[in-house]
Amino acid sequence: MLKGRDLLSIHELSVDEVEMILNFAAELKAMQKAGVPHKILEGKTLGMIFEKSSTRTRVSFEVGMYQLGGNALFLSNRDLQLGRGEPIKDTARVLSRYLDGIMIRTYGHDRVVELAKYADIPIINGLTDLLHPCQVLTDLLTIREHKGKNLKNLKMAYVGDGNNMTNSYMYGAAKVGMTLTVATPANYKPNNEVFNNAVEDAKQTGASINWVEDPIEAVKGADIVVTDTWASMGQEAEHDERKKIFTPYQVNRELLSYADKRAIVMHCLPAYRDEEITDDVFEANANVIFDEAENRLHTQKAIMALTMAD
Ligand code: CP
Ligand code: NVA
Repeated sequence: MLKGRDLLSIHELSVDEVEMILNFAAELKAMQKAGVPHKILEGKTLGMIFEKSSTRTRVSFEVGMYQLGGNALFLSNRDLQLGRGEPIKDTARVLSRYLDGIMIRTYGHDRVVELAKYADIPIINGLTDLLHPCQVLTDLLTIREHKGKNLKNLKMAYVGDGNNMTNSYMYGAAKVGMTLTVATPANYKPNNEVFNNAVEDAKQTGASINWVEDPIEAVKGADIVVTDTWASMGQEAEHDERKKIFTPYQVNRELLSYADKRAIVMHCLPAYRDEEITDDVFEANANVIFDEAENRLHTQKAIMALTMAD
């Protein structure tokens, strides 16, 4: 179903395809833990283009490819001619002659769309300014592990900046039928087109996608509380200004007192303690947060295997 396809956005996946990725990720995780070989991509090579920094994405894709029996090439834009102005459409056609798939992390989402348009191998979005689909699929797997496989009756609250994670959470929640309430300052709302698309997608599953300004309103009764950095990659110069604006959106013990007593807190990392999350809340949820980090590996292995295998 996903063979030969790109993974640029969860919006482009059907409800069944999201379910399939999560099921296969769980299966690959169990196989890896049991030491069962799963060299599904033997002889294949993934190119990994990074125009922004990364710890998790870089290491988990590279190790994932290795565990699947293939190879991964780290391609920094400092080394590629892409960084000196070679057009994406030429890079796409050249790399398609050598590689079996490309993971790209970059700024503008249009760069990934253009790469996918001109490449004839699967393109996987490893984060753009607009979306971070691999992370949110990973988070859905992690929620299944901690809250049970049926995500339909769960309430999730996202608190903080309306960024690439928020946009992808809206798409992800819509596909699995969750209730997601996003709380951001009015000037830092998630992308409006993504919001409208997610509200439309939600009709298929009974999901509910909402935006509010008040973090307490979002968190009330939530089963999952999630946040992300207040200054994403590329917004470093706005850091101090953002810190002031977002202070009321910090995930701390006081805010969590409004959530369900058994609520879990998630963070895609890197986390900035005592900015978007307090150290005590982070450490109290460290088991979930590091499961979430680990699950990047399993989820992306599923994505690579489903899109790149013969
Ligand atoms: N969460 C995430 O994508 O982490 P990296 O920026 O380290 O890849
Ligand atoms: N919103 C963050 C996510 C980092 C994984 C960023 O884009 O920097």
